[in-house]
Amino acid sequence: MDKIVALAKRRGFIFQSSEIYGGLNGVFDYGPLGVELKRNIKNAWWQTVVHFRDDVVGLDSGILMNAMVWKASGHTDSFSDPFVKCPACSKFFRLDKVYDEIKDSPWFQSLAKSMPTLQDAGHVIRWAKGPGKSLAPNLALVKEPEITFSFIVDLHYTFGGINLEFENFVKRLGSDARGIGHTPCPNCGAALPDEGVAANLMLKTSLGPVEETAEKVYLRPETAQGIFVNFANVVDSTHRKLPFGIAQIGKSFRNEVTTKNFIFRSREFEQMEIEYFCRPEQAGQAHERWIQDRLNWYLSLGLNKERLRLRGHAKEELAHYAAGCSDIEYLFPFGWSELEGIANRGDYDLRQHAKFSGKDLQYQDPVTNEKFFPHVIEPSGGCDRAMLAFLVDAYHEETVNDTLRVVMKFHPKLAPIKVAVLPLLKKNEAIVSMAQKIKSELQKDMVCVYDDTAAIGKLYRRQDEVGTVFCVTVDVQSLEDKQVTVRFRDTMQQERIAVERLSGYLKEKLI
Ligand code: GAP
Repeated sequence: MDKIVALAKRRGFIFQSSEIYGGLNGVFDYGPLGVELKRNIKNAWWQTVVHFRDDVVGLDSGILMNAMVWKASGHTDSFSDPFVKCPACSKFFRLDKVYDEIKDSPWFQSLAKSMPTLQDAGHVIRWAKGPGKSLAPNLALVKEPEITFSFIVDLHYTFGGINLEFENFVKRLGSDARGIGHTPCPNCGAALPDEGVAANLMLKTSLGPVEETAEKVYLRPETAQGIFVNFANVVDSTHRKLPFGIAQIGKSFRNEVTTKNFIFRSREFEQMEIEYFCRPEQAGQAHERWIQDRLNWYLSLGLNKERLRLRGHAKEELAHYAAGCSDIEYLFPFGWSELEGIANRGDYDLRQHAKFSGKDLQYQDPVTNEKFFPHVIEPSGGCDRAMLAFLVDAYHEETVNDTLRVVMKFHPKLAPIKVAVLPLLKKNEAIVSMAQKIKSELQKDMVCVYDDTAAIGKLYRRQDEVGTVFCVTVDVQSLEDKQVTVRFRDTMQQERIAVERLSGYLKEKLI
C-alpha cells in the first residue's frame, strides 16, 4: 500500500485534501491523472449498465434532499456505528473494528514477530518497558503492557492462536495476565470503555442564508434514495415497464468513525448504484443475474480473478428488510474487503416512501391493471474503492537490464493516457514538428501527451509508471520512411508503423 500511496501522490493520481493546511481527515483530491482514471471507471460502468442494456436508464439527483427522505429510509434513526472514545488520548474507534485496528497496529505486529524470543509475561513486560520503548514509545504495548497482554490472551481464547509460537506464548502468558478484561486503545494503550455509543453517520448542514430560519438537511449518505424518490417520475416520463433499472453515479458523505486504508473508506466518496425494479417473483433470478453481471464487469476490466471473490451475507448481517446480499470482495494489501454489495431489498424502500409522503408509489401493470410495490435489486459499488482495486491490481515491478521497472498495467480502457508521442531528438526541428503533428492528430481520438524532457529510456519509464498504453517515437528514419516506432507498455515490444496507419492501428488495439 505504501508504494501505491507514494506513486499516487508522486505522479498526480491522488492527493490528501487541503494538504497545505495539514489535510482534512477522510477526504481526498484527485489529480490530473486520477481524474482521468476515475472518469474512465465511471464511463466504463455507465456504458455497461446503461448504454449497453435496454432495461436501465440514468439519473442525477441532488446531494441535498428533503430531510423526510432520511426519516422514511430509516437513516435518521438507525444509520449509525457504535464507537468508543479513549479516555486518555481522546481518539475515536469503531467498537466493532477495535480488534482490526489492534491487529494492524505496529506494536501488535512487532510483538507477534518477537514471540519466539519472549518467554513469559514478566519477560514480555520487561521487554515492553525496555526495547519496546525505543521501538514504539507511544504505543499500547509499551504504555500499559498488562492490559495489552490480558487482551491478547482473551483474544487468543476467543479466536484461537495465530500460529504455534503465538499459541505457546499465550499459554505461558495466560496464567499471569488473564482477568483484567479491558481492551487497550490501539493508539495509546489505555483501557477503553466496554460500552459503545451510537454515532449517526450522516453529515448535517443547513439550507438558507439565515441561521435561525435555515432548514436542517443532510448530505446524502447514499445515492440510492434519490432513485427511490424519483421512481414515479421516471415511470411517468419514460413509460418503462417492469423489470427496469435506474442507475446513478454521485457523491455520498458519511461521518465514518475511523477512516483507513487510503481511499478505501473516506468521508466524501462516490457511489455507482443501480436500483432494479421487478415483480416480486422475478427478484430471486434478477439478483443472481446482477451478481454475475457485476462480477464480470470487474473481470472484463482486467482485475485478477484470483483476487476477486463473492461473499454471501449471513442472516445476522442483513438489514431487517433485506432478503439477501452478496458482496464482491477484492484482496487488497490489507486483506479481503468489500468492493460492491448486491442486495435484494424487497419492497421496503418504495413502501416506506409511499407511507411517509402519502403518494401512491405502486406500479400498475399496463395489461392487467394490477397494482403492487415492485421488489428491488440493488448493485451498489464505490467508485473510489474500484479505483483503489484497479491501482493495486495494475501495479507491477519488474527487473529490466538490472534496473527496476515500475509499470501500471491498467486495462487500455482505464489507462489515463493512451499514447505518449516522444521525439528521439528534441533539438531536431523536423523531428519535433513531425512528432507534434502526430500528437495533434491523435488527440482528436484519444488522450495523448507529448514529452521531450528527458532521454528516451527515461521517458519510457515515466510513461510505464503511469500506465500509458503506447509510446510512439519519432526518429531520423521517420523523416524518410514516414514510419514511427510503437512500443507496447506491457511487453515493451516495438513495431514500425506507417504514420498514415497509426491512428487506425492504435484505435484497434485500444478498444
Ligand atoms: N445503497 C446501499 C449502500 O450504500 P453500502 O454498502 O453502505 O450500501 C455501497 O455502500 C458501496 O459504497 C460499498 O460497497 C463501497 O464500495 C462504497 N462505500 C461505502 N462507504 C464508503 C466509504 N466510507 N468510503 C468509500 N466508499 C464507500
